[in-house]
Amino acid sequence: GAPVEVDISNLEPGQLMTVEWRGKPVWILRRTQEEIESVEALTESSTLRDPLSEEEAQQPPFAQNVYRSIEPEILVVIGICTHLGCSPTFRPEVAPPDLGPDWQGGFFCPCHGSRFDMSGRVYAGVPAPTNLVVPPYRFLAENRLLIG
Ligand code: FES
Repeated sequence: GAPVEVDISNLEPGQLMTVEWRGKPVWILRRTQEEIESVEALTESSTLRDPLSEEEAQQPPFAQNVYRSIEPEILVVIGICTHLGCSPTFRPEVAPPDLGPDWQGGFFCPCHGSRFDMSGRVYAGVPAPTNLVVPPYRFLAENRLLIG
């Protein structure tokens, strides 16, 4: 599959867009300052299975950090649950009634209830074994990404 160039200049803070790369959905999220802070806070809380992205197969080396990204604002992940491949839903709201008071915003998989935070990091105690996969990508300019 060829790399895909994406213009993210219209992506607002808090907004998610989906592009296709190698037949897979790739999510690009521009995180808000609050979302960046929640990612940092959750790292300390030990409710995540791999908070520092130590499993090397799940992301390129440049994303082996708590943001799982090059720029803290911009998250790029493959939108496929690492359990059995369903598509998780984007749930940015904090503590909605159906997800409970501990939910800090992230991605919820409706198939078997796996939970991922705003960095695509998997919570402990859910069926998905690993964090969402970060594809190879780079910035061609401040608002132009090359995925692949
Ligand atoms: Fe997502 Fe099973 S496929 S929880």
